[in-house]
Amino acid sequence: SVTRYYNFDVRLQNVTRLCKTKSIPTVNGQFPGPKITVREDDRIIVRVVNHLNYNVTFHWHGIRQLGSQWADGPSYVTQCPIRSGQSYVYNFTVTGQRGTLWWHAHFSWLRVHLYGPLIILPKEGVAYPFPQPYKEVPIMFGEWFNSDPEAVIKQALQTGAGPNISDAYTINGLPGPLYNCSAKDTFKLNVKPGRTYLLRLINAALNSELFFSIANHSFTVVETDANYVKPFSTNTLLISPGQTINILLSTHQTTPSSSFLMMASPYTTTAGTFDNTTVAGILKYTAKILPINKPTLPSFNDTGAATNFTTKLRSLASPSYPARVPLKVEPSPKNGTCQGPNGTKFAASINNVSFVRPSIAMLEAQYYHFLEGVFTADFPGVPLIPFNYTGTPPNNTFVSHGTKVVKLKFNTSVELVMQDTSIQGAESHPLHLHGHDFFVVGQGFGNFNPYKDPAQFNLIDPNERNTVSVPSGGWVAIRFVLDNPGVWLMHCHLDVHLSWGLAMAWVVEDGPLCNQKLPPPPLDLPKC
Ligand code: C2O
Repeated sequence: SVTRYYNFDVRLQNVTRLCKTKSIPTVNGQFPGPKITVREDDRIIVRVVNHLNYNVTFHWHGIRQLGSQWADGPSYVTQCPIRSGQSYVYNFTVTGQRGTLWWHAHFSWLRVHLYGPLIILPKEGVAYPFPQPYKEVPIMFGEWFNSDPEAVIKQALQTGAGPNISDAYTINGLPGPLYNCSAKDTFKLNVKPGRTYLLRLINAALNSELFFSIANHSFTVVETDANYVKPFSTNTLLISPGQTINILLSTHQTTPSSSFLMMASPYTTTAGTFDNTTVAGILKYTAKILPINKPTLPSFNDTGAATNFTTKLRSLASPSYPARVPLKVEPSPKNGTCQGPNGTKFAASINNVSFVRPSIAMLEAQYYHFLEGVFTADFPGVPLIPFNYTGTPPNNTFVSHGTKVVKLKFNTSVELVMQDTSIQGAESHPLHLHGHDFFVVGQGFGNFNPYKDPAQFNLIDPNERNTVSVPSGGWVAIRFVLDNPGVWLMHCHLDVHLSWGLAMAWVVEDGPLCNQKLPPPPLDLPKC
């Protein structure tokens, strides 16, 4: 293993999309940001210098951060923001993980511009559990706003209205030919016939789950969120914000008479306003100008297509990559994720608690034992107001505001059932847990039934990942082991829901051994 050094100079840069030039924050002037490529067991050292005149932090989405809790990055959770003119060094080792992850800013909505791939290759000499691809290509989905996204979220927090929507989706920062003024801003993948390509898909969009297809090509899903899955072939997939999916694409067209579009468009069950546009990139076999074939994407509210894909996902669960599903769990917390009105403003909550960002970092409060006024360990184990999902919104929109956590012992195995309460603008909630992967042992629609549903749980080869969508009007059950002391945020990866408070945190106490204790903070940890 080696140590890989990166400099992230965060500064403004003019970028033009949809004929609109904006000055946006970038890392080293690049949009999207630079690709980090390492091997399992490598150490990553990223020196961030903030040249903006506002705060920033960075999160390494999906990295376990075993023993490097201070590098996780969510602002006010594991660190205070890096202020204008300041720097901070993120220093962590990639232990026991390989696959596609990504990094993004974790302050306000800055991740709309500040994101990039974080690719972990297997250890030297270790092969993939699938045919070695000829080439590997990151495909990052994003969103472009013609307006300033910070103004958009400010407005969404001050009024009862949903946010203004984005103006385009992007592939590797490019909207593609289906948008005005964007034909030249199209992602092109030049391929040779008869080869296998590994596409590393990352959904970095702020607020949209996306369907993805490639014209005339099916593909094989081999990994989700840096965990291998049992390979299966499909021609459509669903990827939620925060998630990554690796697919193998065989370029079987030997004498292509067309170019082929790869396209992504949103999945939502909301009838309200959302960005219902389509990003396209081109799969090109030849430099010749050829007629273009388009794939057929499911319609925006095709829950059948969404469920059909997600329920196919299974851990590889092979001798080399076993699925270590916790078989014995503590009495399980039940979370209800809701969003609902709160007076004239909008709030989102878990168990009727809307998360309030504290004014200093929760991890410092935990380490120095000055918890008062920072957070309390009284996060309710069940929704405060029982609800019964019947298809119409239940009447439990009461929300209290607080920074509440669930505090548990080191190495606790948790089973968590997340129930969507479908209040207002029902849509799925991609819930992301920091610092841990979890097993998706069950999912369904309607109310979770604690007497019947657990009998159907998959404890053999459930999909393992760090972000799972709680279906609109349904539930998901996950299991994980809290094996890293610290403070771990869990939140909806739709940024507008995070801003509205759809978040909570798990606090894991120190274990008995030296390497099971929260280490002291690095000397350059930013101050609030
Ligand atoms: Cu990808 Cu809390 O984030």
